[in-house]
Amino acid sequence: MSDLAIIENGAMVVEDGRIAAVGPASRVENLSLAKGARELNVQGRVVMPGFVDCHTHLLYGAPRLEDFSMRLAGKDYEQIARSGGGILSTMHRVRTMTLARLKAQAQRELRRMAECGTTTVEAKSGYALEARGELRCLRILKSLDGDPIGVCPTFLGAHAVPPECEGRPDAWIDHLIENVLPAVAAKKLAWFVDVYCDRNAFSLPQARRYLGAAQRFGFGLRIHAAQFEDLGAAALAVEMGARSADHLEHLNRASIPMLGRSQTTAVLLPGSVFFLGGLKYAPARALIEAGAAVALASDYNPGTSPVWNMQMILSLACTQMRMTSAEAVTAATVNGAHVLGIANRAGTLEAGKQADFLVLDASDYREICYYFGANLVALTVKSGKILRRAAEGESHGKTSG
Ligand code: NIG
Ligand code: FE
Repeated sequence: MSDLAIIENGAMVVEDGRIAAVGPASRVENLSLAKGARELNVQGRVVMPGFVDCHTHLLYGAPRLEDFSMRLAGKDYEQIARSGGGILSTMHRVRTMTLARLKAQAQRELRRMAECGTTTVEAKSGYALEARGELRCLRILKSLDGDPIGVCPTFLGAHAVPPECEGRPDAWIDHLIENVLPAVAAKKLAWFVDVYCDRNAFSLPQARRYLGAAQRFGFGLRIHAAQFEDLGAAALAVEMGARSADHLEHLNRASIPMLGRSQTTAVLLPGSVFFLGGLKYAPARALIEAGAAVALASDYNPGTSPVWNMQMILSLACTQMRMTSAEAVTAATVNGAHVLGIANRAGTLEAGKQADFLVLDASDYREICYYFGANLVALTVKSGKILRRAAEGESHGKTSG
């Protein structure tokens, strides 16, 4: 994770949305370019892969400013959920919103993400919590793929127990297994299935039973694990060969070596700890030293992490979890791509991959971790297409033969 393979004085050729060549300028510049090829002179600046934000709750309708006020008045996340806020308040909003307004909300956020350097995002359902509504949200997510960045959909029907099943979480799990998972699978509406396993959410046996069913349908597995309490969800992720165990703020130390030996990526979400005013971040250093693959993501959502800028997440990873800047970059690019199963086409700048890259208003990549809360992205390029051009310090393209 600490080896970024930086090329000083590098150059890259992009053709048909893909990277055709990348390497030292002395070598790459000798390649003959197609007629009409456009040259971007980015001398003195960092060019790096676009961020792969592998954990977001993108589609949520509207912010939860009431929750925010309650928390500033001293209530914690779980108390707010019990007093009418939380996931279920977003559920009520999402159920009644028109498709057009829901879609517009997510579209606005995708553009903001792109401006801050994200070129691929994972997006979860989980705020409708009824069969038709969940399918509607997944269809919206599917329609947003490539508009303007890549969207990988995850089904998170097991996010909370809806009012229709209040006090009967097993009944909701049964309903998901019998009626919703088959439809999501048949219509190919999601790549992954996620479950929120924690106190005040789903228990370990419920998560195991549910993920077992999801696995039989062929979905990749994700788990919200140990955000507030370790119920054994990270161990379950490893046992079931899940793609990732996410959060891990309250991970039992004993589970660290096991994650280290496994193929399951630890997806760390420091934005949610920061926003909730918590002091306990996930044990990033211990995980990395145990050999775990660590990814970083925004956890973008209205309740615990309203942040679309991955650069802020990298800053938090460095200052609060003591990751190095290089580890943070790896975690937010290629490791995120591995979680999503797209590392063969995204996450690094290598010939044959999608031309998903950033030009930074910086001469050293560590500046994105150092200047916290800033946006140093001058240019976001997705599949060869320029999505953002900063007004200042703009690079000037010229035509070469
Ligand atoms: O990852 N904790 C569960 N899910 C989200 C929060 C969702 C919400 O509060 O709306 C998370 O932090
Ligand atoms: Fe989450």
